[in-house]
Amino acid sequence: MSASKIDIRCGDCLEGMKKLKPGSIDLAFADPPFNIGFEYDLYEDQLDDDKYLAWSHDWIAQVVRLLKDSGTFWLAIGDEYAAEMKVLMQRELGLTCRSWVIWYYTFGVNCKRKFNRSHAHLLQMVKDPDHFTFNADTIRVPSARQLVYGDRRANPQGRLPDDTWVLRPQDLPEGFRSDGDTWYFARVAGTFKERAGFHGCQMPEQLIGRIVRASSNENDWVLDPFLGSGTTGSVAKKLNRQFIGFELSPEYVQQARGRIESVEIGQPLDGAAEPTRSAPSTAQGRPLDSARKPRRKKAKTQQELTGIEGKPS
Ligand SMILES: C[S@@+](CC[C@H](N)C(=O)[O-])C[C@H]1O[C@@H](n2cnc3c(N)ncnc32)[C@H](O)[C@@H]1O
Repeated sequence: MSASKIDIRCGDCLEGMKKLKPGSIDLAFADPPFNIGFEYDLYEDQLDDDKYLAWSHDWIAQVVRLLKDSGTFWLAIGDEYAAEMKVLMQRELGLTCRSWVIWYYTFGVNCKRKFNRSHAHLLQMVKDPDHFTFNADTIRVPSARQLVYGDRRANPQGRLPDDTWVLRPQDLPEGFRSDGDTWYFARVAGTFKERAGFHGCQMPEQLIGRIVRASSNENDWVLDPFLGSGTTGSVAKKLNRQFIGFELSPEYVQQARGRIESVEIGQPLDGAAEPTRSAPSTAQGRPLDSARKPRRKKAKTQQELTGIEGKPS
């Protein structure tokens, strides 16, 4: 197996991408700042709306320039700009949307005056809708119907999603199939072994792994303009892709480099490959006393009530 090329550059991705050869990238994945005031060590995540959208236009235009004609761009984005970004990429930059995936996560951010934030958007955009990499067989897993019910009548086309709000995905494993467009992976929370510990937005390797496997082949070039903790680089190396990434912060670059250098080609991705089985279902769990059904109190005896021994009346 040949060593994969890994190229990590410290600096502004917009300027950095301008220096690369057009048509050289097979897959780009970007998880940019969402413009929600998140605290990074250098970048200020609070631009005027127009400025953020103009900047997004410029860096995505560079991604499009770098993509091969058969290339794919996956964008991770929050609710705030998902719709604008899709229109921008379609109308102004000529890309076609193949999937709008909802990444549903647990360990999200608790909010005070709205529903808790528990999802982000993943847009799969291609240059040529008739000619792009999509390795469906590399990301397929047996369905619960096959594993659990052995149901030969299962409709291979799938079914409409339930109109039920699911509190815990572990209780409904068949509700989050890996070939559906609602994906469940826990966010990389503080106590997780996978957590590198120096970056607040570290993405799960299993999530990026699904994208890299589906939308690129071994030895292909993968680009990430916003490297952060280095997740895309780590996954690309493990899956034997070539990789180029940009990151503004020298501190993050140093740590991400160390993370990527420490992994090997062929090494398994971090985290549970099947997230719905990574935690017990509610029925198998150990609830806190306060969450248990209140037990009916035993009626106090006469003695307990009065302190006087004798038969309860
Ligand atoms: C949401 S984080 C990426 C997290 C990454 N996906 C991970 O798994 O760790 C966005 C990153 O973009 C970096 N950044 C912001 N503006 C940049 C720019 N113009 N060029 C390169 N990196 C930039 C920030 O410093 C931050 O680390």
